[in-house]
Amino acid sequence: MRPSLFLRPLPGLLAACLLAACQGAPVASATASDAAPAAPAADDLVAHGEYIVRIAGCNDCHTAGYTERGGQVPVADWLTGSPLGYRGPWGTTYATNLRLSVSALDEAQWLTYTANLHTRPIMPDFMLRQMREHDRRAIHRFVRSLGPAGTAAPEALPPGQSPPAPYFELVLPAPGAASATQNGQTPVQ
Ligand code: HEC
Repeated sequence: MRPSLFLRPLPGLLAACLLAACQGAPVASATASDAAPAAPAADDLVAHGEYIVRIAGCNDCHTAGYTERGGQVPVADWLTGSPLGYRGPWGTTYATNLRLSVSALDEAQWLTYTANLHTRPIMPDFMLRQMREHDRRAIHRFVRSLGPAGTAAPEALPPGQSPPAPYFELVLPAPGAASATQNGQTPVQ
């Protein structure tokens, strides 16, 4: 008798539990969504960083072959630097391996670094200096999420030193030369 007495409340208890679970469902999900912002917010920041990197054109220079392949480069290979030189009056510069640069700096260091960044051309350093802190933080989160990869880009060369191929060269025409060579014709005096 005792066991049955003991067991008898069970179905009721089970029903009560199920009912509680059912009633509890919206409460549980509300609790889950209340707690949710912490995890998705971090994920959102990583996704936002990916978006900023994608539309701000960082890959155009810092990812080898990105422009040539119309952006069809796996995210895992992004920002590993490029051996393509940019030659001009400033010498020859190379888009650095940001996977290595970013992994060497914690978030606070990165925010200070990018807010005050001054580089040689062709890096649009003014763009990073003007970028909102939220966006620069997101870049850090995203690049950190990818982890370090690849090797360092070539060292910059001083003005006047010939770089090995491949490189882009910016040639500034001599004053007056632009109009003289327009359409490949010398203007008739
Ligand atoms: C037009 C090409 C170009 C674009 C676009 C570009 N960079 Fe650069 N970046 C360079 C080059 C070249 C250098 C090396 C400059 C030097 O040697 O002084 C550089 C250097 C840097 C540096 C300093 C070196 C280092 O690794 O710490 C940072 C940081 C940087 N870029 C981040 C970015 C980010 C983030 C973006 C996108 C928002 C971006 N760059 C877009 C070409 C570019």
